[in-house]
Amino acid sequence: MKTVLITGASSGIGAGLANSFAADGYHVIACGRDPSRLETLQQLSPNISVRLFDMTGRDASRQALADCHPDMVILCAGTCEYLDHGVVDADLIERVMRTNFLGPVNCLAALQTQLKPGSHVVLVSSMAHWLPFPRAEAYGASKAALSWFADSLRLDWEPKGIAVSVVSPGFVDTPLTRKNDFAMPAQVSVGQAVTAIRRGLAKGKKHIAFPGAFGLLLRLLSSLPAFMQRALLRRMVRP
Ligand SMILES: NC(=O)c1ccc[n+]([C@@H]2O[C@H](COP(=O)([O-])OP(=O)(O)OC[C@H]3O[C@@H](n4cnc5c(N)ncnc54)[C@H](OP(=O)(O)O)[C@@H]3O)[C@@H](O)[C@H]2O)c1
Repeated sequence: MKTVLITGASSGIGAGLANSFAADGYHVIACGRDPSRLETLQQLSPNISVRLFDMTGRDASRQALADCHPDMVILCAGTCEYLDHGVVDADLIERVMRTNFLGPVNCLAALQTQLKPGSHVVLVSSMAHWLPFPRAEAYGASKAALSWFADSLRLDWEPKGIAVSVVSPGFVDTPLTRKNDFAMPAQVSVGQAVTAIRRGLAKGKKHIAFPGAFGLLLRLLSSLPAFMQRALLRRMVRP
């Protein structure tokens, strides 16, 4: 039985992935902080076991992730907070960077000696860093750092036989986005996100971005000259 370890399995995309892999006969190591939601998830399948820890803690991550020996690691846990009125809130930025960037780093530091040729590491980033959106200084920077880290790590780990993939969703309907008070174009359901991610992983893709049309639009906008990009993005700044 193959083992897939998923962080952020207590909610949203991670919970969807956990259910999907468990239904396909994988042993799922479901990670998160919320004991009651993870217990509910575990009750859905005998294939699911649970590890409770806060991945912003390096020691906590190392202790919780001992002896997992996963075939696949999906680092999905994350958070999103936006700056208001351009006020640089150092506490907020630290929280977001510690969760979205250093959290996955802590997990990989703990797991690296357990991975073997044929293992697959998947980092869930975001399309949010493809353009410098207003208010997304913290979230965009954290996901840009994560994607950069993944693309660099792939070069070092591929020769060891370890694949590294990056997942870049657009908007997905989860508790994370339900608190947003702005329009979220081309939003997809968790089910659609899981299908897109699993299809991409099955094809061995290094970069999985969905929904495709929205991603294409952002890529086109990001290739515009800087002055045109700025003119468009400035229209999104709140008064
Ligand atoms: N939803 C979207 O539109 C969207 C778009 C692009 C990228 N993403 C990325 O997709 C990933 C999943 O997002 P989601 O929408 O499914 O969010 P979600 O429903 O809010 O789930 C977030 C998950 O992350 C876990 N988590 C957060 N901080 C943690 C910490 N310090 N230690 C351990 N676990 C922690 C939570 O665990 P507990 O609840 O147990 O604390 C929860 O399981 C995130 O990385 C997010 O940035 C989402």
